[in-house]
Amino acid sequence: MKIEGGSVLVTGANRGLGKAFVEELLARGAALIHASGRDVESLETISALDRDRIRPVALDVTDAAGIEALAADTPGLDVLINNAGVDCPVPVIGGDDMADLRRAMEVNYFGVLALSRAFAPVLARSQASAIINVGSMAGFIHVADNTGYSAAKAAQLMLSQGLRGELAGQGTRVLQVLPGFIDTDMGARFPMPKASPRSIAAASLDALKRGEDLVLPDTFARMSFDAFVARPDAVMRDPGAVIAALVQQFMASQSQS
Ligand SMILES: NC(=O)c1ccc[n+]([C@@H]2O[C@H](COP(=O)([O-])OP(=O)(O)OC[C@H]3O[C@@H](n4cnc5c(N)ncnc54)[C@H](OP(=O)(O)O)[C@@H]3O)[C@@H](O)[C@H]2O)c1
Repeated sequence: MKIEGGSVLVTGANRGLGKAFVEELLARGAALIHASGRDVESLETISALDRDRIRPVALDVTDAAGIEALAADTPGLDVLINNAGVDCPVPVIGGDDMADLRRAMEVNYFGVLALSRAFAPVLARSQASAIINVGSMAGFIHVADNTGYSAAKAAQLMLSQGLRGELAGQGTRVLQVLPGFIDTDMGARFPMPKASPRSIAAASLDALKRGEDLVLPDTFARMSFDAFVARPDAVMRDPGAVIAALVQQFMASQSQS
């Protein structure tokens, strides 16, 4: 399917990977980009890139009424990019309450679900449409201090598989992007080489063009997926050991290149 001339909605478009998606969509000739963010003022820098083709939109992906209103106000859409996400580096035992853990699920899973439900009828009007869900390799290999995030991204992974089946009949493809570490605010606390947000956006849109549904957009993501496929039992039993070995292998490969 073609991005050129199409209309696309990006959530969390004000910074990080969402901003990179908007830049990449502009470069590829998208006709209209609905760039959404919680705070519409934070979209000013990205909107200024092309005020004719970028429509800034206020949207919190946990606001069901706001999502419904936006879908009702959007006559047509070719691609929905569910990019907005939060990580959750808190222990699951202890802590004052489960607010952070619930928020991770609300943004990374229920937000994606609510947007997919609301926009499915809008996407159905397009000749060729797609939903791109941004997950994480942490959704198939548990990451130690981020259980709430891994759980929410795992739930999103299953959601994408379900959506793919339910939306096939209306011609809407569902892509699942599973990045490793990205050089954004969210990735800042990880002391290792990271993929640029622009390269992740480009790999995702390349996969859309090629007709692929599973996107492993960077080296660490591909290494992680290979480890999962080779030894799913090891991942299930001791994900910490698998991640530690992967990081060591990745760092060694980076220092050689
Ligand atoms: N960075 C990584 O290493 C990494 C790795 C794998 C996957 N990912 C995934 O990539 C996606 C983009 O993350 P990023 O790295 O660009 O992170 P980021 O720099 O922290 O940006 C997160 C974006 O999500 C938005 N957001 C958070 N909660 C929201 C809500 N309730 N409603 C609407 N927008 C909300 C943020 O908006 P505000 O500015 O308003 O907070 C921001 O635009 C996420 O799904 C993330 O899980 C990231």
